[in-house]
Amino acid sequence: MNYTSLMERAIEISMPFKYLVKPNPMVGALIVKGDQIVSEGTHQKYGGAHAEINCFQALKEPITDEHEMVCTLEPCNHHGKTGPCTEKIIASGIKRIIIGSLDPNPKVAGTGIKKLQDAGIEVVQGILEDKVKKLNKFFFFKHLNGRPFITIKIASSADGKSHSKDGSSTWITSKKSREDVQLIRAEHDAILTGGNTVRNDQPRMNARVDFALNQPKKILLTSQNEWNRDIDFFQTSEVDLIAEKNLHKVINTIAQQDINSVLVEAGPKLVRAFLKEDLCDELIEYKSPNNLGDASVPWFEDNEGIDKFNFNLKSSYTIDRDLKSIFTK
Ligand SMILES: NC(=O)c1ccc[n+]([C@@H]2O[C@H](COP(=O)([O-])OP(=O)(O)OC[C@H]3O[C@@H](n4cnc5c(N)ncnc54)[C@H](OP(=O)(O)O)[C@@H]3O)[C@@H](O)[C@H]2O)c1
Repeated sequence: MNYTSLMERAIEISMPFKYLVKPNPMVGALIVKGDQIVSEGTHQKYGGAHAEINCFQALKEPITDEHEMVCTLEPCNHHGKTGPCTEKIIASGIKRIIIGSLDPNPKVAGTGIKKLQDAGIEVVQGILEDKVKKLNKFFFFKHLNGRPFITIKIASSADGKSHSKDGSSTWITSKKSREDVQLIRAEHDAILTGGNTVRNDQPRMNARVDFALNQPKKILLTSQNEWNRDIDFFQTSEVDLIAEKNLHKVINTIAQQDINSVLVEAGPKLVRAFLKEDLCDELIEYKSPNNLGDASVPWFEDNEGIDKFNFNLKSSYTIDRDLKSIFTK
């Protein structure tokens, strides 16, 4: 039995649902008999049935001692939005299960496997584990670090500026770069910005992509109590207003929610505050070849720049006329 190629298949069928299941992980499950896949199931929607349950539902034959289950992630063992998958698996009478990775969620974290083993089911684990972890990077990060993954995105002119001083708004980067930002928004569970950006730019800050997705939640850090809820920013998804200035406390509050990743899209004040507090796991810079000149606000103060914050350049490539660089810690 080639468990690796079966796990490849279980991973493959989970992937089309990436943007619909987030902040849950993508999960795929198979039931196999000998070399033959007799049933497939995926987690398709946040809050919806888990992959294992859909897999049993699609099965058209009774389970025998020859059947095995393949699942990309350890089956859940708790009552969340759905019942525990372990109970369903035990009740099915299946004798062996092949698992990609342990579930890092402290509510599961090995207890699913233990429950299956205690019920006499043979468990094989760690098949394509790294691939499962990489594909569900934000989910694993949150549960292993106790806080969401934080990405900061900045668009900069060639002379390192963020925006014009008089508040007149012009696009710094090309249309293609701005389309690329839509995909980054789609990947994240929340977009965080500051009061000035919403007051000055009136942004929508939703993910404008041509596929179905769970829109990222919006988080507005502001000391202003009253906001006009008719402006674009308050449409398309839920908005949380947070008045707290201490960014560690802000992130701790966000960590209590079902949010695995936060994209910070703000101006220099808030971006620098996040960088100074070392609250950034990945910084994405889009740099235009044009200057904004003296009548504009720099991203960084004198003698301060991205390199001062101990990042490593992970990749750099051009999008249309702009240079996109990704820095990681
Ligand atoms: N080039 C780009 O990529 C880009 C992206 C976004 C924005 N921008 C530009 O940035 C300009 C605004 O920049 P900005 O830095 O003044 O404003 P900002 O991004 O709105 O951040 C500052 C605001 O965040 C709130 N805040 C809450 N906690 C904070 C903390 N610990 N530290 C700092 N701020 C905190 C405050 O809102 P309250 O005043 O409401 O209390 C503060 O005024 C906009 O006009 C926009 O054009 C550029």
